[in-house]
Amino acid sequence: MVAAKQTGANPREIALRLAQECPTPPDWANPEVAGSGFVNYRVHPAAVAKAVETLRKDPAFGILQTPKAETIVMDFSSPNIAKAMHVGHIRSTLLGDSLSRLLSRCGHKVIRINHLGDWGTQFGKLLLAYRQAGRPALDPNRSIQQLEEFYKKGHEQAESDPKKMDEARAELAALQTGETERMKDWQHFCHRSAEHFHEIYRRLGVTFDLEKGESAYHDELPGLVEELLRLKIAEISQGAVVVHNTNISEEPFLIRKSDGAFLYGTTDLAALRSRVRDLHANRIIYVTDGRQQLHFRWLFDTAQKWNQHVALEHVWFGTILGPDRKPLKSRDGTPIKLGDLLDEAKERAKKILQEKRPDLSGEVLNAKAELLGIASLKYADQMPGRNLDYVFTWEKLLAFDGNTAPYILNAYVRSRSILRKAGIPASPDHPIVLGESAEEELSRQLLRFGEVVDLAASDRKPHHLCGYLFETAGMFHRFFEACPVLQASSPALQKSRLTLVGLTGDILREGLGLLGIPTLEEM
Ligand code: ARG
Repeated sequence: MVAAKQTGANPREIALRLAQECPTPPDWANPEVAGSGFVNYRVHPAAVAKAVETLRKDPAFGILQTPKAETIVMDFSSPNIAKAMHVGHIRSTLLGDSLSRLLSRCGHKVIRINHLGDWGTQFGKLLLAYRQAGRPALDPNRSIQQLEEFYKKGHEQAESDPKKMDEARAELAALQTGETERMKDWQHFCHRSAEHFHEIYRRLGVTFDLEKGESAYHDELPGLVEELLRLKIAEISQGAVVVHNTNISEEPFLIRKSDGAFLYGTTDLAALRSRVRDLHANRIIYVTDGRQQLHFRWLFDTAQKWNQHVALEHVWFGTILGPDRKPLKSRDGTPIKLGDLLDEAKERAKKILQEKRPDLSGEVLNAKAELLGIASLKYADQMPGRNLDYVFTWEKLLAFDGNTAPYILNAYVRSRSILRKAGIPASPDHPIVLGESAEEELSRQLLRFGEVVDLAASDRKPHHLCGYLFETAGMFHRFFEACPVLQASSPALQKSRLTLVGLTGDILREGLGLLGIPTLEEM
C-alpha cells in the first residue's frame, strides 16, 4: 500500500506481483492476494509444529534477553510507619512486584526498594499521646492498632487545644534533632510496624532488596537544598525554598518550608541522587497512585535540571472502587486493612474449596485456601489496565468460570492431572503433529508467550500477560474438548498431544509466576 502510494500504481497489482515474484519461505503456503491489496501468507501447521518443538526445548519458553540490560530501581509499596497497610497499598505492592519479576526475567538487574514513610510530621502527635500514656511496650499482636489509637488521641488533642499542638510540634522537633528517648520510641514504632508489613509481604510472597526509609536521608537534606540554591535550580521565595516551572504548574515545587522543615519531595531528591550515585541505577521506576502524578513531574523536572543521569518513570495506577463506584471502604467508612482483605479472600476461597473438595480438611485445606484466595486477589487487581479504576467484587474475583485466577489455575491443574493419568513426566518432549484446528490454535498461542512477556515488561503493564493467560486457558479447554489426548487415535498423536498439554502447563505456570501467583498441582 505504501509502495502504491509512492509510485501511483494500483495497490492490488503491486500485491499480485509481490505474491508472484517473492519466493515463499519453505514452510509457508503460497500467498493469496485479498481485498484492496493485502498479501496473506499462511504458515503451514508443520512449521508451527516445528516451532513448538523448539520452544519445548527452550528453558526460557521463548522469552528473549534484552540486548540493553539496565540497572533498574523499582520503588514500590512504600507504606507509612505506624499505620496499617490498607487497600490503597495493594496495587503498588503487586504491580511493583510483577514489574520487577518481568524486567528481571527479560535480563535487567532490578533492585527492589521499599521507600518507607518513617519520618513524617505524624510522629509529633503520636509521640505526644504515647508519652502521656507512659511509653508502654507495644503488644506485637496489636501494635499497629495501638499506634493508630495513640495517633488519633494526639491528633484530637492537638486539633482542639493550641497548647497541645505546640507540644506536638516540640515532640517532633525533639525527635528530628535526635533526642535519645524520642529516638528510642520512634525506633520501637518502626520495629513494630515493620513486623506488620513483613507479615503481609510474607503472605503476598513479595520481597525487597532494600528497605530504606525516608529517615535515612535526613542528614543530607540541608546540604542538598543549599546545593540546589547554589546551582540556581531553586530559589528563595517568601522565606521558603522552591523550584519554579510554569510548564508544570503555577504553584512551585516546595523543598524547604519557611520554618526550615523539609518535605516529601526533598527526601525524594536525596533518595534519587543516592540511587544514581551509590546503586548506579540507569533507571528508576516509581509505582504509586495516580494522585501523585504532579509530585513526580516536579521531581523528574528538578532531577533533570540537576543533571542526574538516570531515566525516570512514574508508573501510576487508578483507584479500587466499591460496588457504589466510590473508593473501596470498610463498613465503618475507614480504608480496608490489607490484612483483613487477605483474610477474607482466604475464608471465601475456603468455602468454595469445601464445596469442590469435601474430602479436604485441616492444614491442607488451609494452605490451599490461602493460596487460592490470594491468587484471586492478585489476579483481579492486575487484570484491569493499571490506569483504570476498577470495581471490586468478591464474586467476580473468585469465580471459576470467568477471567480469574481460579479459571487459569484450573486449566493448569487439569494439565497436570492429564499427565499424571498418562503416567508420564511433567514435561514430555515428543514430535508435534498438528491436525485439529484447536491444537494448532493452542500451539500458535504458546509461541506468543515471549512476545507477550516482552510487551508487558516494556509497557510496564502486567495486564497484557493476564489477558494472554486467560486466552491460553480458554484455548486449552477447547483443545481438550476437541482433541482426545489419552484416547488419541495413534500413539504418535497421543504423545504429541501430551507434549502440548505439558507445555501449556509450563507456560501457564511461568506466566502466573511472573504475576507473583504460585500454582498448585491439585485443586
Ligand atoms: N509513602 C508514600 C505513600 O504512602 C509512597 C512513597 C512512594 N515512593 C516515593 N519515592 N515517593 O503515599
